[in-house]
Amino acid sequence: MRILLLGSGGRESALARKISESPRCEALWIAPGNGGTDAYGTSLPGLSPLDFKAIEDFVTKKAIDMIVVGNEDPLVAGIYDYFEQAPVLVVGPSKAAAALEGSKDFAKAFMQRQGIPTAAYATFTAETLSEGQAFLETLQAPYVLKADGLAAGKGVLIIPTLNEAKEALAEMLAGQFGESSRKVVIEEFLSGIECSVFVLTDGNGGYRVLPVAKDYKRVGEGDTGPNTGGMGAVSPVPFADDAFMAKVTEQIILPTIKGLVDEKLTYRGFIFLGLINCDGQPKVIEYNVRMGDPETEVVMPRLKSDLVDLLEGCARGDLGDIPAEADDRAAATVIAVSGGYPGAYPKGKEITGNLAPADSIVFHAGTKRDSDGRLVTAGGRVLAVTSYGIDLAEALKHSYDSLADIHFDGINYRRDIGRDVMK
Ligand code: AMP
Ligand code: GLY
Repeated sequence: MRILLLGSGGRESALARKISESPRCEALWIAPGNGGTDAYGTSLPGLSPLDFKAIEDFVTKKAIDMIVVGNEDPLVAGIYDYFEQAPVLVVGPSKAAAALEGSKDFAKAFMQRQGIPTAAYATFTAETLSEGQAFLETLQAPYVLKADGLAAGKGVLIIPTLNEAKEALAEMLAGQFGESSRKVVIEEFLSGIECSVFVLTDGNGGYRVLPVAKDYKRVGEGDTGPNTGGMGAVSPVPFADDAFMAKVTEQIILPTIKGLVDEKLTYRGFIFLGLINCDGQPKVIEYNVRMGDPETEVVMPRLKSDLVDLLEGCARGDLGDIPAEADDRAAATVIAVSGGYPGAYPKGKEITGNLAPADSIVFHAGTKRDSDGRLVTAGGRVLAVTSYGIDLAEALKHSYDSLADIHFDGINYRRDIGRDVMK
């Protein structure tokens, strides 16, 4: 198959590597890609994942058979529907189904209709501000306020006191996050430890569960400091044992797959279930309509089966008996970020050292080649250093050993990835 992958992060590097390993992959392009994606195919730095017309022209010119979408924006903008009549397969949900990520209110209402366990909630607009403030009074601290629409991961506020929460609600509804917070979902606060479950579905009831992962969102060790795009991830997740996963399948995955079919929400791609373990009871924190980043950098290395077969099965609407087998080894990834991230940070810092260590896979994220051909930093999250191990401790040791020999000005990474879940 001739495949076009859209995106530019560590997630897309991990997808590109896995796709390129398939004997079914005849040629792979990555748009726009990053400083490392040429290792797996041809990067297209000038092609934007949101420019559907330019993508269409490229698909025609190169006779692309399948488009794989890494990030949510093109999916929420309707790339699946745009190509529905075209002779190219698209892995992903339709625009209507992508609202599971694009609108928190839609996602909560879907879960309520399908009886899927999640936090209690209500949705408010500027017209219903005073009802929203009254609703806050019925809840216990802390208060969870979510912008309805996509807000680049910044639209969720967890607020310690009632008065601050009432104020924050007013600011959000007044447009703090632009259009995305014209509607705000207020949720019951759930406490527990989170994990990420990824499911591939063919839209006709067929599905496969991929290896479970846990990511680390806060910039600081011990889960402190501001949220980031993700500082590391591990797979498997020790607490997501057979008993927990049986509940996840029964109470969350099956009703989600059935709900999509029953509600005629066309969905042929990855479903990302952000789950929280509340004393052994899994509940859904959020749906995303794509793979996670940095979870993909551990999930893809742990997938033994052919990814192209799985993606094609999904996109054609029939997974049949295509396997999705997991590697028994553990995998861990540690993200090397720019100094200052997630605040302001410099770019263009030269990256040196060993980027092909024997015991790790170095996935590029925010990197590029400058005009002199030097590899330089080009984003907050720069590299994802993934390793296998007999267990998480060994995988993490390999990643930290490899990181000791990778350098750029201001490099920062968490030294405690995985520590909270290791026995
Ligand atoms: P989201 O963008 O929905 O994933 O929210 C971002 C983060 O906020 C999640 O990963 C959780 O850590 C936290 N969060 C979201 N909703 C809740 C909730 N109802 N209770 C507790 N924490 C939450
Ligand atoms: N790692 C969480 C996400 O990709 O949204």
